[in-house]
Amino acid sequence: MLCTLKEVLRQAQKEQRAIGSFNVYSMETIHGVVQAAKEKNVPAIVSFGASYLKNMTLEEVAAAVRRLTVTEELPFVLHLDHCQDRAIIRRAIDAGFTSVMYDGSALPFAQNVANTKAVCQMAHEKNVSVEAELGSLALGDYSNETEIDHGQQYTDPNSARVFVEETGVDALAVSIGTVHGMYRGTPNIRVDLLKEIKKQVSVPLVLHGGSGTPEEIIRQCIQNGICKINVNTELSQYTMAKTKEHLCKEPNTHFSQLSLLQRGWVTDIVGNYMMLFYGAKMR
Ligand code: 13P
Repeated sequence: MLCTLKEVLRQAQKEQRAIGSFNVYSMETIHGVVQAAKEKNVPAIVSFGASYLKNMTLEEVAAAVRRLTVTEELPFVLHLDHCQDRAIIRRAIDAGFTSVMYDGSALPFAQNVANTKAVCQMAHEKNVSVEAELGSLALGDYSNETEIDHGQQYTDPNSARVFVEETGVDALAVSIGTVHGMYRGTPNIRVDLLKEIKKQVSVPLVLHGGSGTPEEIIRQCIQNGICKINVNTELSQYTMAKTKEHLCKEPNTHFSQLSLLQRGWVTDIVGNYMMLFYGAKMR
């Protein structure tokens, strides 16, 4: 069944788990993510970024995800990732998305607050959850994010408290040292800063830039308030590496067969992340 982000993250927060949020842009990726959730029996966030609107329309994504999850008991969230355009957010809500991310992180604080608040009013009226971001992530290697690299700007804990109080967001994406894409060199992830943010903010916290983040750091983040972790680059890197390997051995593969294999590879990599995030409950 399709649920809101708020419902799914509230439960994750209680259980000190994180739910994986995986970027989709094709039927292979949508099937792969849904299949992984079914195999592992864990909730999943199917995330479609506005930067992939050339690959699929909002309506196509919504119809496919709804169709594949409607008879499931497992909770799925259909989420719009990073979006600065309020008209697209409105369309996503109308198409049936159950969660949207308004990303005003590049704007001055007051403007980010005002825009996020307006999106919350519009989305909450339709029982759709809202994620927003404070601070910004640097761009690593192989990222497909289209945004300008503003460099790493860490989230300030006091500003986070004011931001959440004033906007009414359901989840807050924080910048603590992860990057969009693969890390260049050793990651410097500030779990100490995350602890400070958690003291100030009661809504579930979101970690963007999950790809390549060391498992031990992921566990520490989940123990300290991260309830949603986004993965995009590694899903693509893994599937493309498998595709290349396969085509070297079997260059005459029919497209339809390759499509099925790619679904399976997406299922494999997503399933691994799901277990790490969801199984990382502190004992
Ligand atoms: P990665 O591409 O680094 O996994 O980040 C994904 C992300 O944060 C999408 O919003």
